[in-house]
Amino acid sequence: MARKVILDVDPGIDDAIALCLALSDPRLDVVAVTAVGGNVSPEQATRNVQAIIELLDPPRWPRIGAASMPDDGLPVDGRRVHGPDGLGGANFAVAELHHRRPSEKVISDVLRSDPDSVTILALGPLTNVARAFQRDPELPSLVGRVVMMGGAVRGPGNITAAAEFNMYCDPQSARAVFRSRCTKTLVPLDVTNQVVMTYDLFHELPAESTRAGKFLRTILPPVFRSYRQEFGLEGIHIHDAVALAALTDAELFATEEMVGDVETKGELTTGATIFDRRRVPVFQHNMEVAVGVDIEKVKAQVMRGLERAGRWG
Ligand code: BDR
Ligand code: CA
Repeated sequence: MARKVILDVDPGIDDAIALCLALSDPRLDVVAVTAVGGNVSPEQATRNVQAIIELLDPPRWPRIGAASMPDDGLPVDGRRVHGPDGLGGANFAVAELHHRRPSEKVISDVLRSDPDSVTILALGPLTNVARAFQRDPELPSLVGRVVMMGGAVRGPGNITAAAEFNMYCDPQSARAVFRSRCTKTLVPLDVTNQVVMTYDLFHELPAESTRAGKFLRTILPPVFRSYRQEFGLEGIHIHDAVALAALTDAELFATEEMVGDVETKGELTTGATIFDRRRVPVFQHNMEVAVGVDIEKVKAQVMRGLERAGRWG
């Protein structure tokens, strides 16, 4: 039976790739896609989620959740990398949504109606998951698992020297989720940074005549340009698609149990993930952390998944 999943996203090119992959994956039943502010504003993230679903038009549409601002606002965004609208500057048109339901409410309703069987794949700041848990303290015990892309274990951050982007955007929420009693998996930068997609990707994309092919061929070229300009890299990271693979193809990853927390107010370290590796750890609330990845097999899975997304028509 397909695994039920809520995708919590701040699209973002790698979020968009993960959505293409997940929506067409027969192993997954995407019951909801909830927007969260991060790479772009909450308003733009909501528009992007809607645009992606309208453009891909999957056989069964998931519920959509609308994003709102984190309590402390957003300290940064990802537009330098992902483009002014988060999708390479494509500015896709969207239909007017009449009944906007807040993301945290959608998460809460889905988990309540189907206890213990839904996985949340959190690919942006943890604002929505923390809010859902706060409004309904029983939820952490009702969610099957939360798989989070974020943080860094041994390597540096990517938005500050210490912090990874998703953690830095809303460290209070990240801390609340880390400290919650839900079962969780973290897929940190140490692992996602290892998977670099080069220009060869374009030879394998679905044809321009397919919905996914047209969409991907519109959003990907600008991000290759910004990776070259910003990082001097002839390729792109697909952090969120790697986190999705950790859910769908767990055998391609090595994991360790760790106890982690998030720094919320350091002068240089806000948003840093800290792991208690003392002989007798004092931190509580374990999580599974991805520490290794079969790079070539994950890349092959991503390519196969994109090809599959092209078969929708
Ligand atoms: C994370 O930050 C965002 O820019 C990406 O979408 C990804 O979720 C990587 O640090
Ligand atoms: Ca993201």
